[in-house]
Amino acid sequence: MMADYTVRDQVAVIELDNPPVNALGSAVRAGIYDGIRKADRDPNIKAVVICGKRGTFCAGADIREFDGGKNGPWITDIGDFIDNMKKPVVAAIEGFALGGGLEVALFCHYRIALKTVRVGQPEVQIGLLPGGGGTIRLPRATGLKNALDIITTGNHVPAEKAAKMGIIDQIVTGDIIEEGIKFVKSKCNIDTSLVCLRMKTVKYSGDLDDISEAAMTKVKSKFKGAIAPIVCVKSVINSAKMPYEKGIDTEKEHFQDLRHSSQSKAMRYAFFAERAITRWQLPSGGNYKTAKPLPVKTSGVIGAGTMGGGIALCLITSGIPCILVEQNQQFLDKGLEIVKAQLMRTVQLGKLSTEQAKKCFTMLKPTTNIEDLKNVDLVIEAVYEDLKLKREIFEKLDRICKSETILCTNTSSLHIDSIATATKRQSKVVGTHFFAPSYIMKLLENIYGTKTSAETVATVMKLGKTIKKVPVLVGSCTGFVANRMLKPYSEEAQYCLEEGSTPSIVDTVLMDFGMPIGNFQVSDLSGLDIGFRIKREAARKAGVELSKNSRFFLGQRNCGLIEKLYEAGRMGKKNGKGWYKYESLNGKPIVDPEVTMLIEEHCRSLGIERRNIGSQEILERMQYAMINEGFKILEEGLCTMAEEIDVIWIYGFSWPKYMGGPMYYASQIGLKKIYEKVCYYHKTFPYSMHWVPSSLLAKLSQIDLPLSEWGDVAQGRKLVNKL
Ligand code: COA
Repeated sequence: MMADYTVRDQVAVIELDNPPVNALGSAVRAGIYDGIRKADRDPNIKAVVICGKRGTFCAGADIREFDGGKNGPWITDIGDFIDNMKKPVVAAIEGFALGGGLEVALFCHYRIALKTVRVGQPEVQIGLLPGGGGTIRLPRATGLKNALDIITTGNHVPAEKAAKMGIIDQIVTGDIIEEGIKFVKSKCNIDTSLVCLRMKTVKYSGDLDDISEAAMTKVKSKFKGAIAPIVCVKSVINSAKMPYEKGIDTEKEHFQDLRHSSQSKAMRYAFFAERAITRWQLPSGGNYKTAKPLPVKTSGVIGAGTMGGGIALCLITSGIPCILVEQNQQFLDKGLEIVKAQLMRTVQLGKLSTEQAKKCFTMLKPTTNIEDLKNVDLVIEAVYEDLKLKREIFEKLDRICKSETILCTNTSSLHIDSIATATKRQSKVVGTHFFAPSYIMKLLENIYGTKTSAETVATVMKLGKTIKKVPVLVGSCTGFVANRMLKPYSEEAQYCLEEGSTPSIVDTVLMDFGMPIGNFQVSDLSGLDIGFRIKREAARKAGVELSKNSRFFLGQRNCGLIEKLYEAGRMGKKNGKGWYKYESLNGKPIVDPEVTMLIEEHCRSLGIERRNIGSQEILERMQYAMINEGFKILEEGLCTMAEEIDVIWIYGFSWPKYMGGPMYYASQIGLKKIYEKVCYYHKTFPYSMHWVPSSLLAKLSQIDLPLSEWGDVAQGRKLVNKL
């Protein structure tokens, strides 16, 4: 049994014991169930304390069990038994009480907690609802509004707030078991049936239909396309509309439907993928287990543009003082204004108090003197994408900074070695690629160079967590993983335009799929000049002309539309004209007939006959081209597991979690189908190199292997004999 039963001073103490987080697997549930029945039977026992080992109460149901059919008593069986007990039961909480953990606690007669505790119902984040009475009991403790908020967002609630809401009866200090025993003994003379009644018969005020409608509108716009938040609202509203028992039964049915849904399966995959990617390894052999991160107590950022300013903000709001360097006072002042504005916005959103924001700002030391960085532990360079400039900066930093300082570059495409070789400390040079807007986007793509040490990698992986990002380690190549995969995706979108589609058709297809924003809207946000400059730079490097009227460029298919839009002065949202037009800086994209004419003229001049392209073809071409690139990335060892690619797309490009990420999506479609389509498009578009099929994809399309083993096949850790 994974719950210890001991007796102290006539009180039964049931301790959940399932490392590392006391997940409520079937054996743990059975342990609690047996424990309370034993305590109830024993005339020497006066009361019961339920608590958890290893400093935490319980992180909820064991997510791994959702795919199988493990049985045993369910949380509501435990709850029903406690409801009929005459002896008082208290949940004594430290650490976390999440999901099923909180549900068990809500079935106890009382809940006490340490001040540091966090409670919550995070099931919605894995595509579920709280299926152990949570949607019925929590609203009775907190009222509908709070319960709707907790259950539909999955956010954690700190102990003191939870106490105010009525979830926790008392905040305590000291040893939680001792406190639990003391508390529950003081309740031995109270009629427990009255306490239970309180949790079964609460009446709600307010118009239920209005509350329901408002909550539905909110979750539909906030979690577009996701089913679970909608079902959560329904179930919470049921708690008010239905008799208690009927509510519990209906919740169970909803839970089972969601558990078997493709969205929940994908989100459960994503949950474990996010944890799998923390187990990084370098080709040289260093890994997350053996490498020790260096402390980062002070930092520096070079470049106070939107990117650098945002990075500095991430550091100071996480308590790491930062020296922000710009080349002149004018640029520095402008950068500081951006940081200040962003801090203000954080205050407006209620994420920081004015006091906290002020304190953060004092941690920022602006300067125009790069020599001020000499004693910092880590520097992040965030100047514009120019190799010569970056090498000059790294050469300087190498000279200025103490020998322990780690030097990071926020390059989005340049090889790490090409920058690291400007220093005599290549083992301490690493890529830290942030995504715009850098303060908001969660992905941190950390890139190792040939000589980057495991200690340096461990440091930036830990730093990523500290500044509340999702750090993923990848190898170095042009564009790394994120932008390298984005390239064929965006190129196919442009080819679709010149073959017959329009920006709004393409974007609608993507958004119907679940992307929060379309490809051309993103392009307008980052600016068309960026795409144009990247192309111009590639042409310059190759020593060729960038020809907008040629269908070929560097031996590959070319679409000159971006050059034509740039030439027509369409820079994107910043000047109100890009693939769409905009009435203001915050305005929505509006279809612009001028762009349609421009595209049609482009086709006429090149003799391209336009045709109707169906949404399936648009989706397939953009996604399969990018997935094929993902397999090439695995094949080249730039990622060690497919999960890394999926996490990059979820947190870097907002791929919907309920679709698991592009590689997971590929696994659901079937690699055989994907491979055949890639071959078909390769034949149809022979001048698009991204359609050359990945040999790993070819290999895996012939066998049936779970996604978790694709990386092993790519790296020869798993030999596939069947071919
Ligand atoms: N079921 C199964 N395994 C779980 C789990 C759960 N409910 N919660 C955590 N774990 C596992 C993780 O997979 C991880 O395993 P690993 O070390 O093999 O990768 C380990 O426990 C530690 O979790 P991690 O998230 O890395 O630790 P943390 O300290 O950063 O966060 C929690 C702790 C509890 C906040 C976080 O794990 C969490 O949110 N868990 C899920 C809670 C949940 O959704 N409950 C409802 C389930 S229906």
